[in-house]
Amino acid sequence: MEKIVIEGGRRLEGEVTVSGAKNAVLPLMAACVLAEGVSTFSNVPDLADVRTMGKLLEMLGARVNLADGVLTVDTAGVDKWLVPYELVKTMRASVLALGPLIARFGRARVSLPGGCAIGERPIDQHLKGFGLLGADIKVKEGYVEATASKLKGCVVPFDISTVTGTENVVLSAVLAHGQTTLLNAACEPEVSELCGVLNKMGAKIEGAGKDIITIQGVTSLEPVDMHEVMPDRIEAGTFMVASVLTKGDLTIKNCRFEHCGAVAGKLIETGAELTRTNNGVRIKGGCRTKSVDISTLPYPGFPTDMQAQLMVLMSVAEGLSVVTENIFPQRFMHAGELRRMGADIKLVGNSAVVRGVPKLSGAPIMASDLRASASLLLAGLAAGGRSELSRVYHLDRGYEKLDKKLESVGARVWRETQ
Ligand code: EPU
Repeated sequence: MEKIVIEGGRRLEGEVTVSGAKNAVLPLMAACVLAEGVSTFSNVPDLADVRTMGKLLEMLGARVNLADGVLTVDTAGVDKWLVPYELVKTMRASVLALGPLIARFGRARVSLPGGCAIGERPIDQHLKGFGLLGADIKVKEGYVEATASKLKGCVVPFDISTVTGTENVVLSAVLAHGQTTLLNAACEPEVSELCGVLNKMGAKIEGAGKDIITIQGVTSLEPVDMHEVMPDRIEAGTFMVASVLTKGDLTIKNCRFEHCGAVAGKLIETGAELTRTNNGVRIKGGCRTKSVDISTLPYPGFPTDMQAQLMVLMSVAEGLSVVTENIFPQRFMHAGELRRMGADIKLVGNSAVVRGVPKLSGAPIMASDLRASASLLLAGLAAGGRSELSRVYHLDRGYEKLDKKLESVGARVWRETQ
């Protein structure tokens, strides 16, 4: 197993380029199942989760290749509809296979995901949507078993805003008979990206990016040709925090500023200097960062996937900050590790009260999930001395070469085998 060693205290300066978005490419890969033939995508990050989704598609009968950022998915041979527990337990986004399988084959048997490090995470809203569209859904022996002769358009009122829930129901409704209207749909840019690609494939979807999405069912879809995956707004946000945290000066390229509004706004409030560039943003950290309160919300609110990184910044900011997690109320595994580095954090319900300290100190630290691992890597950059981050496989699920990119702008960080 690998660990990342970080010698903290170095200022970051220079240019970094953001990779394609993990949470955009995973539903796009699932969408390939809807059309028979070869789909291609560019700007695809080489991540463990992308490889896992590739394995899933191969188990269904597809041929998948990822090389130099170009992903090819040939679905001509897809003839299976089972997604086993072994895949779902390593990546929850595997449940995104349900929608396309039900739509294309009228059958799916996909392992029901359990809880994970960031919370309980049920998929009841996905199943509610499939049921309303006319699928028969049963949960048996830990698996979701779905059958449907023909899906029929309907109104799907989501009880809560769910990103993959919205994506999964869109992925099934595109081939349903008639019109489907999703109410309280998720507005995240990754949902819009999926709907845009489905429209390129021949779907008829309107309203993506808003909370009402209307889908006119079509009888078939065509593969998509060389779609360029949108940049990862969470990776961009992570670099922004890294710059402020190290009082650095980073120019972040391949970043869609319009997707990063809530994070950029908070960083400006902390005293950071931010300017928009041609295809990204330049962000400079100043003297000591001011504390701000943060409350996670669905898009365009502050993203839960940036909560841990901002908590690190608040750990060394001037004053008191309240970080409230409204999406995954237990997503605070990083707090205990940050305390081990000298942070003053108290958890009260779904909030963390963070009293800034002048400096963190390096320590052995352990990653518990993807964003927590990124936050601990950032904490190591800001801390005095040496930190050793273990369980880095969490980081590799969703960040493409984050440690290498940070090294290229001045961080002293390297991998060692444990
Ligand atoms: N929820 C339900 N029932 C459902 C679905 C969701 O109660 O059927 C609840 C969840 O438990 C949570 C809230 O609704 O409290 C929102 O969850 P959502 O469904 O939106 O999350 P997700 O689709 O499972 C995606 C991202 C996450 C990101 C969240 C929130 C992907 C593959 N995953 O998860 O990304 O945190 O949206 O923005 O898109 C990550 O990248 O590290 C990550 C965890």
